[in-house]
Order: sequence, then C-alpha cells, then structure tokens
Amino acid sequence: MMKIDKTEWIGKVSVKHVRRDSQSTAVYSDGPIESELYRRFRDNPDLEPPSDEYRFKSWAEEYHLSPIRHNLLKWYPFYSDGCALEVGAGCGALTGLLCDRLKEVVALEYSSSRALVTAQRNSNRSNLEVIVGGLQDFECERQFDYIAVIGVLEYAGAFYVGKDPYGAFLTKLRSMLKPNGRLILAIENKIGLKYIAGAPEDHGGRVFDSIYNYPSQCEARTFCKKELKHLLEAAGFIGMRWYYPLPDYKMPQVVLSDEITISDLDSLWSLFPTRRRGHVSREVLSERRFGKTVADAGLFGELANSFLVVAGSEDIVDDFRCLRFNGADRNRKPELRTNVRVCMNGKDKIVIKSADDHRSLGFIEKIRAAETMAQENLPGIPVIGQEWDEASLYYPYIEAPFFKDLMGSAIRNQNPDCGKPLLEDYMRFLHTMPIKNCIPKEFMDAFQISAKEFTKPVPCLPFAPLDCTPRNIAIDEHQWYVIDHEWSYEFPVPVDFVAYRGIMALVVDLQSLIQTRVSREHPVVLVSGYGKNRRYMPLSWLDLIRDLEFPADQLNRWEMLFQNRALVVQKWHRRLRLRRKPRPVSEIEVTEMVLESLWLYCIRFFLARSKRLVLRFRQLTRFFQFWTRSRVLSSRHGASP
Ligand SMILES: C[S@@+](CC[C@H](N)C(=O)[O-])C[C@H]1O[C@@H](n2cnc3c(N)ncnc32)[C@H](O)[C@@H]1O
Repeated sequence: MMKIDKTEWIGKVSVKHVRRDSQSTAVYSDGPIESELYRRFRDNPDLEPPSDEYRFKSWAEEYHLSPIRHNLLKWYPFYSDGCALEVGAGCGALTGLLCDRLKEVVALEYSSSRALVTAQRNSNRSNLEVIVGGLQDFECERQFDYIAVIGVLEYAGAFYVGKDPYGAFLTKLRSMLKPNGRLILAIENKIGLKYIAGAPEDHGGRVFDSIYNYPSQCEARTFCKKELKHLLEAAGFIGMRWYYPLPDYKMPQVVLSDEITISDLDSLWSLFPTRRRGHVSREVLSERRFGKTVADAGLFGELANSFLVVAGSEDIVDDFRCLRFNGADRNRKPELRTNVRVCMNGKDKIVIKSADDHRSLGFIEKIRAAETMAQENLPGIPVIGQEWDEASLYYPYIEAPFFKDLMGSAIRNQNPDCGKPLLEDYMRFLHTMPIKNCIPKEFMDAFQISAKEFTKPVPCLPFAPLDCTPRNIAIDEHQWYVIDHEWSYEFPVPVDFVAYRGIMALVVDLQSLIQTRVSREHPVVLVSGYGKNRRYMPLSWLDLIRDLEFPADQLNRWEMLFQNRALVVQKWHRRLRLRRKPRPVSEIEVTEMVLESLWLYCIRFFLARSKRLVLRFRQLTRFFQFWTRSRVLSSRHGASP
C-alpha cells in the first residue's frame, strides 16, 4: 500500500506527499524558475494565461507558461465525465487544460517543487489532486479513463531500476488504465528532422546524440517510431493512433494524424525549421527542404520531430476522431482567435471552427452572421451549409480539391506556366461576383485610407469576401465554392484588393514549393523580404499583378492596414521589392540565399546600404554644386546691366 507522509491543502487542491520506497534519487529540475513560478502563482493566482505582450525571459519559462502548449491536447475529444492521471505533471503546463475538460484529475509529479507549482497554479480548481511522488512508488486501486504522459517516458531509465525500465513504466501505466481507457503519450523522435538538421538533442544538448544512439549515455532516452511501437505493444497496448505535433510536441502549432496527405503539409513548411532553444548550433541541412523530400518519399511519419500516441489495450474504434488540428494564430488579437479541426464523425468528414477561448465567442457569432449575409449576397456561389453551437461552427468537408492545392500541384509538377491559367480563372471568378463602380467610403474609413487615393469610382465588390483567396476556394468539375467568411465585410471593397490578396496568399502559402521548384525554365522574381525571409513569385504570374488597376505598392499598404487591425503586435510595413522590370532570379541564387548564414547576409546588406548612401551623398553634393552654380549664374545675370 502506498504510504502518505503528509497531506497539505493549497486552495482547493489537496497535495499528498508519498513516501519514497524506491532506490531512485534522481530529481528533475529546471532550476530557480520553479521557485519563481511558485511565488508568482501564489501572489497572483490569475496570472494565467500570460498577457499577449508578455515576453518570456527564458526557454524554461516559456515551456511552463506558453498557452501554445495547450495545442497538444486542446483538440482531443475527452469524455467530460472521465478521470485522468497525469504522470510527470511538471509545473502543470497541461494540468489546467485537463481539469477544464474532465471531471477529475490526479497529477503525479516526482519533484516536490514542481508539484507545488502545479497545485498553486490550479489552487482554484476543486477537481484536482496533486500527488508528490514517482510512478514507481505510486499505488492506486482505481483505474483511469485517461493517462497523460507528456515528455516523461524518456526519464523512465532514471527512475526505474532493472533491465527494461521503459517496459516496466508502460506496463504499470496499462495496469492503471480502464479496459477502454486511453494512454496519451508524447515524446520526441530520436531520428526527428530537427536532429538530422543538426539541432542538439533536447535532453543532453549534444548534436547527433540520439541519432548515433546515445553514445553520451544521456539519462533520458527517446525512440524512433518502430521502437516506440514495439515498447507499447510489449506493454500490452494493442490499439494505437499516431499523431505528429508540428513542429514538435513542446510548442505545437498543428497536430496531424497518421491519415495525412502530402498536400496537407504544403502550407505547413513555414513552421520549420524548429526553433532551437538555448543552444547555439548550425543547421547542417535545411530542415524544411529535407522535410519536403522526406514527405514526398512517404516517410514523414518516421522522421517527424515528435510523436503523440493515443493507445489502448484494445483496438481503437472511434466514431469521432480528429485528423488535423490547426491551433489559433497567436499573432491575432485574442478576441479574433479561432482554431480549426478536420474530423471524422462516423463516416462523414467535417470541419469544426471553434473559438480558441471565451474571449473569441463573439467572433464565432460574427462569422455566422457574415455567412448568412454571404448566402444572400453571392448568388450562384454556394456558401456551404453550417451548423453551430455557442463556441463552434460545423461544416461538411468539401472533397473537391482546393485552389491552393491545384496551384501547388502545378508548381510541383513543373507546369510550364506554374498554374498561370488557373490564376486567370481566379481573376475571372472574382469578376463573376456582383460588382459596382463606386468610391468605397466605408472601406476607406474602416482601414483609414486617405481620400486622395480614390479620385474616381473603381470596380468594387458590394459585399466583400476579403478572404476569398485560393486557400478558401474549392473547385469541382462544375462549381467553385468559397469557404470561410471570417473576414467578410458588408461594405464595398475594390475587387483589385481581393485579387491582390489572393495572389499574395499563394506566394506565402506555396513559398517553399516555389523556392524548391525554381529552375531555368521556371524563373522567379523577388517579391519581398531579405536574406532567408525572401519571398519569390513565379515570373509568369507577374502579368496578373501588373494588370491590376492599382499599383502593387498601394495594394500592399492596404494589406498591412488590414492585417494590423487583427494583430496583437503591429507589423512593420513589409516593403514590396517587385521592380518595374524585375530580374528573373536563378535557382542557384535562391538556393544560396536559403543556405547563406545570417551574419554573412547582414554584412552584405550593410555594405550594400552604405554603398547606396555614398551614392546618394554624391548625388546630393552634385545637386548642391549645380544649385550654387546656377544661383551664381542667375545673380550674375541679374547683376548685369
Ligand atoms: C520534461 S518534464 C514534463 C513535464 C510536463 N509533463 C510538461 O509537459 O510540462 C518531465 C517531468 O516528469 C517528471 N517525472 C519523470 N519521471 C517521473 C516518474 N517516474 N514519476 C513521476 N514523475 C516523473 C519529472 O520530475 C518532470 O517534472
């Protein structure tokens, strides 16, 4: 029987200290941050979540406090009457989420300072019990519906003695799970893309350590997919569903299930390379570019940076399961944040858009109103039917390919014109919507655009689906569908602005594809950005931008004004670098730019800037020389009789 040395109460949370009978003396610690967090939560229990302007002082602090960590489990369809055991709860980064979603939570944590942070930060919750102790000393007669083990299995070797500590750890977990219960386990992949690209191993901090099978004898040990599968099977977990948190399980923006397709990944490469924390190390190959090759070879699941496995002692047959989760964009203002899930509901595939938290419930209501308006204002364009509840909107999944994916395939297959005819169809499609010539006054007021910019009436969409961009248009043989009316306005908006947004959205979404497929036959031109942040566009698309009535610079400025309405931190105006006569950029140049080190680039950039300044200075002196000379001439002239 497990012996309890002491029980204390922190707010509504009982904290039980278990007597340690096992031989292990290892304690996991992130250092002084733990006591600091304890003090902070004690003095201010409403600290969570940290405000959007808050800048984390260290990686450890971010790891414990960042709301992005919730993306790992936010999408999981927990049964709300269930109970969970969280093994290795750490400082409670995910404990609050479990408490919100379940009836009862037991958080087990070996380190007492970390367990106390978990209790302190959840002191207002009456459905949480914290146990200070290791799994090895934990005994419990009850069984759980869920056992969450997030970033913990790798330490089993330090806590369990014997030949097979990982097997013993997992077998014990299985014994505590109800027959239809679920183990939810997250861990790094020892041969993940980031490690291959030269990122130091997350636990020992040595480059290539896990790839070379831990010659350093690091205490923590991670596994590849095959090894982890064997470990789970050996412990009696028969059913498994595999998920890949991207870029990794620590700060996941997106979670993909095993049922993903390559095109699912097309717009996700911008999440790579994975941020390196606290370690200075060189990317020995591009994680993003290598990742694409790996995905094309059908090996993404094997080399993903982390795994999230949902396992059970029986085959898992879920009527409802999530295939893909896109976390909310944290750059957006909190009241505008939504997350999106693609799910299987029985045999139906559905899309669920949800308020990210209570602050964006009003936004869901607004989207619903905009969709009703779209139905009335866009004759001939089906706005797909929706159901809703207070926090979410539900849509049938459109099986037809999305415009963005079609463009992606055109670039991937190296079509001679990089999908230009399709883009022309898009322009024509916009012009099939009702259009009227007017000066868009409300648009100018809403975006604070100066009256001087509109001297005459321009073609406008009276009801403006501003997000009618290629990522929101699906096409089947007979019909174009516009989904997502998050950003639809009741007032007229210049049709050119919507078209410009559409083309630029493609440039952003397909950027890594554009860069990897550039060739002599498919040249690109520079659109914006410097160094590694350069964005290119296929040369063949340029005419479409030139054919717009408004110059690209002006449209770009409106775009910044639009974006800044939705963003927490105002973005700098991203200057367009499209020239009147742009120079086609070769594939070698693009590749060099991607691989170039930032420092080298900065030096080059500085030199180029100084050269430009010197030239300007020369021009200025020449002008002054001319001016003073002409003044001398004119005064002479005036002085002459
Ligand atoms: C990397 S941290 C992860 C913490 C938390 N799950 C999270 O995601 O923030 C690992 C935690 O597991 C705890 N831990 C490791 N092995 C354990 C064991 N056998 N029993 C209880 N806790 C354990 C460590 O003390 C540490 O706090």
